Amino acid sequence: MSRLAGLTAILLLGAVPVVAKSRSTNPAAVQRCQDAVAEAGINVAHEAFASLAACDARITRGALPANTNCIVATATDRRHSVRFVKPIRHACRRTTLPRGGDCADATTADALAACIAQTHDAYAVLATQVLGRGVGALTGRARVCRDHAVHAIRVLALGKLGALEKCKRHPPASLTPGTTCADERHARRRIATVRDIAMRTIIHACPPSETTSAAFAGSCAGSPDQFTACVLDAADSAAGAAVAAEYPDTGFCGDAGTAVEKKIDGLLAQMKTDDKIAQMHGVTYPGPSTTAALPSLGIPGFLMNDGPRGVGATLGRATTFPVGIARGATWDPALETLVGDAMGGEARAKGATVLLAPTMNIVRHPRGGRTQESYGEDTYLLGKMAAAFIRGVQGRRVLASAKHFALNSIEDTRFQVNVSVDERSLREVYLPHFRRAVREGHTGSVMSAYNKVNGQYCAENPHLLHDVLKGDWGFQGFVESDWLLGTRSTLPSLAAGLDIEMPQGDFYGPKLLDALNAHQVQDADLDEHVRRILRAQLCFRLDSDPPVVDPTQVETPANTQLALNVAHEGIVLLKNANATLPVDRTRTHTLVVVGAPIPTPTTGDPTATTSMAAFANLGDFGSSTVVPTTSVTPLDGLLATAGPVTITHVASRHVAACTGDPSCPPPVPPADATTIANADAVVVVAGLAYPDEGEGLITHGDRDSLAMPRDQDAIVAAVAALNSRTIVVLEGSGPVLMPWIDAVPAVVEAWYPGEQGGRAIADVLFGDVNPSGRLPLSFPEAESDLPTFDNEHAAVVYEYFHGYRYLDEHGATPLFPFGHGLSYTTFSYANLTVTPATVGPWGHVRVSADVTNTGRVAGDEVAQLYVGYEGSRVTRAMDDLKGFVRVHLAPGETKTVVFDVPARDVAFWDSNVSDWEVEPITYRVRVGPSSRGLPLEGSFAATG
Ligand code: BGC
Repeated sequence: MSRLAGLTAILLLGAVPVVAKSRSTNPAAVQRCQDAVAEAGINVAHEAFASLAACDARITRGALPANTNCIVATATDRRHSVRFVKPIRHACRRTTLPRGGDCADATTADALAACIAQTHDAYAVLATQVLGRGVGALTGRARVCRDHAVHAIRVLALGKLGALEKCKRHPPASLTPGTTCADERHARRRIATVRDIAMRTIIHACPPSETTSAAFAGSCAGSPDQFTACVLDAADSAAGAAVAAEYPDTGFCGDAGTAVEKKIDGLLAQMKTDDKIAQMHGVTYPGPSTTAALPSLGIPGFLMNDGPRGVGATLGRATTFPVGIARGATWDPALETLVGDAMGGEARAKGATVLLAPTMNIVRHPRGGRTQESYGEDTYLLGKMAAAFIRGVQGRRVLASAKHFALNSIEDTRFQVNVSVDERSLREVYLPHFRRAVREGHTGSVMSAYNKVNGQYCAENPHLLHDVLKGDWGFQGFVESDWLLGTRSTLPSLAAGLDIEMPQGDFYGPKLLDALNAHQVQDADLDEHVRRILRAQLCFRLDSDPPVVDPTQVETPANTQLALNVAHEGIVLLKNANATLPVDRTRTHTLVVVGAPIPTPTTGDPTATTSMAAFANLGDFGSSTVVPTTSVTPLDGLLATAGPVTITHVASRHVAACTGDPSCPPPVPPADATTIANADAVVVVAGLAYPDEGEGLITHGDRDSLAMPRDQDAIVAAVAALNSRTIVVLEGSGPVLMPWIDAVPAVVEAWYPGEQGGRAIADVLFGDVNPSGRLPLSFPEAESDLPTFDNEHAAVVYEYFHGYRYLDEHGATPLFPFGHGLSYTTFSYANLTVTPATVGPWGHVRVSADVTNTGRVAGDEVAQLYVGYEGSRVTRAMDDLKGFVRVHLAPGETKTVVFDVPARDVAFWDSNVSDWEVEPITYRVRVGPSSRGLPLEGSFAATG
């Protein structure tokens, strides 16, 4: 047995799983447990930092060999710190446990103790490891710099942890709702002081010669300022993660929770039954959806409005961003937070307080009509992007609404379909992204889906709402139903956990009053729902600082620029044979732009068509419709940026009614054929648009097949036969079959690229922007390679595999794999490190790799980390995405990318015991540019 395994065994010895029901909620006992946890936490962190620093010092003195790896060498010492967590076992054995951060799933005192020991050790290691090489490999100034940086990390991390723990123990009454101890005056001052000391320590000891060297500074390499900020951020996050793991997750209410709950007690005492019921349903429909205000008590109610690609058209014009799937293709959570911030800002400036976004249903099959709204097929990517978006929106004090909970991946039957799913697939595949929205994004609201799951409508599904969302995940906000047919009952919905019926009170209006009068519903149950609704209003300060309508904050130049930046980052270069792209303006004199025809949306004449090249293809016309004041079509974009290149636009013909007959008009008129044949290059804009896919009932709903509609294959093939430099620009939600793929040298996926999309496409085609998007979903060769898509029957089964995991499992080769995307430069990967070699079930693994730009232009690479499972006792995916990092590299530049993999992320759901298990097996780690291109391989083991 390894030492760590031994340790875990000791910790678990005598473990008495105490079910939550029998745990004491006595405040004094709970406080004793909480104090024990905090004290153990800071002691473990202290010990870990101290032993890591002492090891460095011993190397410097020559007492240890220069090549000593301090993480490994001090592991035994650090394990001794386990003595610090013993008091948790006694203090917490019978009380409610603080369930926060990485320790939220610890359900016994022993598990909590193990978690505090392992996480806090891991945080110290992770923070120290940003410095790359150990001290032994260094000499002279590099060694001095490292010593000082290690010291600085320790000072800041421990100083901040101490300050936060102090505030958490006694949150001052002055804390504003929605803010945390990190915002509290005394804590802030203390943290600023230690940060300042740490900063000076590094600046004093680290000259540019050292900080810019990737060999020394690892992922923090850069100017002294960048290096210092990066190192301090690592220490900051270590302290943040530590305190988050020690205390209960307070969600969007921050640390002012107790004061807010007291205020709610007061409000509930003053509200009449009618007032309470009025909080629980929408009042205006159609039009902007509101819930009731109660001015006499200062209760503002909500104004809810759609959002996934901008503030929905019900509230007028707004910046129209690329759709969710295009933003999923950026693999850039930091950028997605900016998008959330911009949408939240515009929503607030229009008076909205809930933005009905993000759409986060997994793309189980690309024919699903709302694929465009989602971030893709992978739960990890989806969860990270959604949480990032939510943080942005809510930073503006507008609630996000994570929707549609859950398993809503078919449009045509969405109102009636019953999705059957086994518990393991539910927990591992269909829910973890929602869990991230709650745990990492702290979403204020969740919208239940229309469909049924395992026989019960989502709005009356106690397992989804009560057990998982509000129970296991500790969600503090409210659940609102989807609109139209989203609520089907009064009592079952109430009992399951639906808090607000939208958009009006069919079941939560007079019928709810009747149920109360008939004593079918208890006052206390009603209060529990109203409490959640009031909590959201108070914690987002909608009562004390409501939104102010301000049209100057809508469609700002900054938001327009952001829409362009996002479109740039999301465009995926799928194929680029013979370096066809970028189009070289000095050698290309004539460029023909061919647009496939789509029905003109506004005329009402079904025979009128518009060229896709001259159409701003923003997405479907369903609830996510956003109307911008201006938009840029691909043709506009190309004309504006062509410089000396002559652009000629050709609208191709729709040949649907007439295929195969020699007398049919050709897809491209003969006069245009000559122009195309003589051009230096041709761009064909084709793909999907509003008549092909979108929200069910309102627009087309699910796609009829993966083939491109309106004979576009014939159009592309005809153009390619005329000109060998044919570049296909695809729009839409993504995967289409490409029978012409071998006949064209270049293909670009532009999605629904938002109001600035035409410009972004032109920038990429001309090489003014180097494409860097990566596929957030697989493009299969054939539809038969994917699981069945059934949008006809009222009952379907969702199994464990879909997307790239399904293709891997069935040995199918995709046309373009998940994660794929080319660039105008090339990248290479080297030097994989995986530490520690063995991790406890609550620990973290740090993986690093060097990525080098081996080409001639600057570009962004998205390094991806996948985990495989060797010897698992259950069926698992061949490769599971568990990390990704976007990195910008100048030509010839190398950067170290670092992934943090919490061991909990590789757990599986054991349905026999209804809990997660990190199996004691070997986990293969592979890193590279796509799910099918993973040049680096390593592994780690876990103790059970
Ligand atoms: C859609 C939701 C949308 C709601 C309000 C529903 O039909 O499914 O996504 O937020 O309408 O417009």
